[in-house]
Amino acid sequence: MIEELKGKIVLVTGSSRGIGRSIALAFAHHEAKVVVTGRTLETLEAVAAEIRNLGNQALPLTCDVGRREEVRALAQQIRSQFGAVQILINNAGLAPAVSFLEMEDRLWDEVINVNLTGTYNCCKLFLPEMIAARWGRIINIASTLSKVAYSHTAAYTSSKHAVLGLTRALAVETARSGVTVNAICPGYVDTELTLKNARLMAEKTGKGLDEALEIFKRTSPQKRLIAPEEVADLAVLLASETTKGITGQAINVDGGAVMV
Ligand SMILES: NC(=O)c1ccc[n+]([C@@H]2O[C@H](COP(=O)([O-])OP(=O)(O)OC[C@H]3O[C@@H](n4cnc5c(N)ncnc54)[C@H](OP(=O)(O)O)[C@@H]3O)[C@@H](O)[C@H]2O)c1
Repeated sequence: MIEELKGKIVLVTGSSRGIGRSIALAFAHHEAKVVVTGRTLETLEAVAAEIRNLGNQALPLTCDVGRREEVRALAQQIRSQFGAVQILINNAGLAPAVSFLEMEDRLWDEVINVNLTGTYNCCKLFLPEMIAARWGRIINIASTLSKVAYSHTAAYTSSKHAVLGLTRALAVETARSGVTVNAICPGYVDTELTLKNARLMAEKTGKGLDEALEIFKRTSPQKRLIAPEEVADLAVLLASETTKGITGQAINVDGGAVMV
């Protein structure tokens, strides 16, 4: 139990499933008040119910992070129902695998809009209240593709490199304000997003799904997918008081796949 997280107001974007859901549950475990957001109310309510079953507070609210007016409305709802956000986890994202030449312009626009501009939108809206309180945490769920590139990921890699740039720039600007800004860079995580891309690879190459997943696993020296809970546990640690000296960092959770 990390005592200082008790009662803290945490916003986790894209928390209806996968990594975001695990992060929401991990903070709830430490008795934080968790705002769960995404675009689908039904799935958000299911996660909120899981949190309430633990005896903790959850607020499910729909918000497309790529739509600035929805993020503004979200901020108002959180303020009136919970208070000022103290910990922001920018997790909402998509990663469609497609070759650069086959990628439609609208796909590029969507990936940049959700992964990068969505992160920007939330930082812009919630950072001022953290600075005013002289305490805050921003944790961006980036990717190992913030540091390296794989084939068929031009939009995703560009968006995640930029998220790391934003993380570093904000860390410098907030360094003396009690706020830390860090990125977590997962490798392949065992979520629907990974399964979807494995299915796509299987279809395109005629391989089986298991074989496609094996290829993903083999990118890591540990030869396995990362569990969403591993990412969540690091997010909790980065929100704690003991890590207040860590800012502007990009920490890989990838079984040793990328060592920069
Ligand atoms: N899985 C991996 O291997 C991996 C590796 C490195 C980094 N990451 C990053 O980790 C994050 C989460 O990935 P995941 O694997 O957990 O993905 P996931 O299983 O596909 O979940 C994505 C979540 O984001 C929400 N979402 C999608 N678009 C949104 C939007 N425009 N506005 C608000 N919410 C939105 C989804 O809910 P709705 O669809 O209902 O909105 C869902 O809750 C992403 O940023 C991803 O890039 C994942």
